[in-house]
Amino acid sequence: MYPEYMQESLKKIEKSRPQRLKLAKSGEPIFSIMSAQERETVLKKFHPDYKETSKRTIKVGPNKGGLITAQVADILEAHPRVNIDNFNLKQPDYTTDLLIIGGGGAGCAAAIMAQKEGIKSIIATKLRTGDANSMMSQGGIQAAVNPQDSPVWHYLDTIGGGHFDNKPELVQAAVNDAPLVIDWLENLGVIFDKDKQGELRALSFGGYSRKRMLSCRDYTGMAIMRTLMDEVKNHPEDITLMEFFPAVELLLDEKGHCAGAVVYNLETREYFTIKANATIISTGGFGRLHINGYDTTNHYGATCDGPVIAYRAGARLLYMDSVQYHPTGAAYPEQIAGFLVTEKVRGAGGQVLNKEGEIFVYPKEPRDVETAAIIRECMERKMGIKDHYGRYGVWLDSPIINQIQGEGFIEREYPAMVRQFKRFNIDMTKEPLFVFPTLHYQNGGVEINEKCETNIPGLFVAGEASGGLHGRNRLMGNSILDYNVFGRRAGMYAGRYAKEHKAGKLSLEHVKRYQKQLKSAGIETDKISPVLLPDYTPEPVRDRQFTAHYEGTLR
Ligand code: FUM
Repeated sequence: MYPEYMQESLKKIEKSRPQRLKLAKSGEPIFSIMSAQERETVLKKFHPDYKETSKRTIKVGPNKGGLITAQVADILEAHPRVNIDNFNLKQPDYTTDLLIIGGGGAGCAAAIMAQKEGIKSIIATKLRTGDANSMMSQGGIQAAVNPQDSPVWHYLDTIGGGHFDNKPELVQAAVNDAPLVIDWLENLGVIFDKDKQGELRALSFGGYSRKRMLSCRDYTGMAIMRTLMDEVKNHPEDITLMEFFPAVELLLDEKGHCAGAVVYNLETREYFTIKANATIISTGGFGRLHINGYDTTNHYGATCDGPVIAYRAGARLLYMDSVQYHPTGAAYPEQIAGFLVTEKVRGAGGQVLNKEGEIFVYPKEPRDVETAAIIRECMERKMGIKDHYGRYGVWLDSPIINQIQGEGFIEREYPAMVRQFKRFNIDMTKEPLFVFPTLHYQNGGVEINEKCETNIPGLFVAGEASGGLHGRNRLMGNSILDYNVFGRRAGMYAGRYAKEHKAGKLSLEHVKRYQKQLKSAGIETDKISPVLLPDYTPEPVRDRQFTAHYEGTLR
């Protein structure tokens, strides 16, 4: 149930629906698809990545002189959390073959594959295992399993979607491994949606030339993540889980090879050292940095920790100037602002409408273009609605879907979303959704090759923390694929590396060197990174706590 001030606009949506339904059923495009020139114009003027203040030059580290999203540059140029002189590095607290930092999809897939290589691993994760973006993804996973499709088409779509900036060897690895990954997941217990013949059901979305997306209704991420977690927990003798233990710094050895990490126990507030022959970073993305002030679809822990510690240790980053905003995040009610409204809603016929009930953009434009068009409608054309919390939004006509696809379609295909909105008395089968673009994905990350190796021997990166596969724009369904393909590869290759290499004498000298670089670049900042947890404490409360802490009166 929407508030009174939205009702007039809602009536206009109802009124224009029969005409729009007729158009949708005619088989004609419901709105003209933008030309390349139009797309470029709308992107340049309205996409947040093109705002002048959105990026800046980084002054230190391996990417010095390059452009980086400004809020990411700020935390890369921040002070470390630990005083490196406080550690007895001669006696590490834990030792293992393989340290995996991050217990989301990529981390779990890596541990499972390393176990197959006969390697023991520790997963040190900031929150609980599976508290990750991997758990939250709704849409599905791309894999060329359909007889009309092939990895070649998947390759071409992915490269086109990434504006031809993708690293070809990563795309090749992803599309070729994809059918194998589906087989692997099915064998582990994932039940994908099937067609009437019992075959895997493949769907088509923005940027696809073939039907390719496999899903488990609208909780694909949860179905896969739970299966991976079960498999990890089936091997307690080989995989040790350390929960609420974020990594705050990498350890190097005398050769400059990665040799583990310093981790922080969030409960006892103590630091520990873990020595490892190989280390994998799988910490996910950066949505909770709320870049450019946007709400986000991301998990509470998505604060870019992995790239920060890797960068301080000397790892190169790729495409960290590019952010993906999903066109349709919930904009009302405020409690779920930013939450994902899957692209599948537009894929099935959901129409994006302004406050007059008019279609103003083709609903299957690429994500960045669709996003920019919605922002233009609200900011320039003033045809969106500003709600009483100050958020702008447009309508996504969901009720029309059952009229196009048949009664019961919404309830069957989007059970998680129907339930989510029902909690706030919004019935998406009868009322449209109020939406606005939301920060969704970190397109770039630590540069890797097809074995997930970085430029630091012994350091591997997988999943959203890595960069290169998606170029500067990821297609829907390629992120679940990414963390499975490269999580598996990281586990295999890091496992093999760990068998052949022994970590040497532990050192944190690189942190000292980085601090010197900050000083000589004249950087003055009070920021500390990795961020670990987003700070949502209202300012007056935070200030009171801060003062009390320093006055010694905090209870
Ligand atoms: O719209 C979605 O369901 C998002 C999926 C994805 O980012 O892959």
